[in-house]
Amino acid sequence: MKFNELILRRFSTRKFKEKAVKKSDIVKVLDAARMAPSAVNYQPWHFVIIQKKENLEKLHKTYSRDWFKAAPAVIIACADHSQSWKRSIDGKDSAEIDVAIAVDHLMLQAAELGLGTCWVCNFDTERCAEYFRFPLHISPVALIPIGYPEDDTVPAKKRKPLEDFVHWESLDHSGNLHTPETD
Ligand SMILES: Cc1cc2nc3c(=O)[nH]c(=O)nc-3n(C[C@H](O)[C@H](O)[C@H](O)COP(=O)(O)O)c2cc1C
Repeated sequence: MKFNELILRRFSTRKFKEKAVKKSDIVKVLDAARMAPSAVNYQPWHFVIIQKKENLEKLHKTYSRDWFKAAPAVIIACADHSQSWKRSIDGKDSAEIDVAIAVDHLMLQAAELGLGTCWVCNFDTERCAEYFRFPLHISPVALIPIGYPEDDTVPAKKRKPLEDFVHWESLDHSGNLHTPETD
């Protein structure tokens, strides 16, 4: 699949078939995450794959939507703050940025394999860390339910037009997407 087709094919999947995900496909999506860029190439991430019923039930307590309960597997994407780059000028920790890029790689690879995913941020991170006994330097950033979409019709993308957020040279200048220099 071409890249521009793939980015349109990925969508937040909230209805899953009752079908287990092949382990080899899970490994493929994790390997795509592995290829993501990260600050100083520190790769400060961990991915915890949850498929067992009792562990899925723990996760459902951190995000109790019915659709989420139907996912056959969930990947907990974690930032490892002991391994991440911190910007010296202000101490900014890039762990969550790095994890976000890796998760995007993972979701796009999943879409190419016919798998659906959804980034879930609105969960109880403290409970999650407690249930899965994460040490203090590891924080859960996102839950990624993964499975075969019940309906793989791609919903229409609702996105702002470029004019709303592209600015040439200065934030004051917007609306003109073409510069004489680059046209
Ligand atoms: C950082 C982030 C947090 C999100 N959190 C949630 C969430 O907690 N629950 C949910 O159902 N979807 C969540 N989403 C999915 C967004 O709603 C979705 O990506 C957006 O509406 C665009 O739709 P699309 O992914 O189908 O293109 C999140 C997405 C991102 C990137």
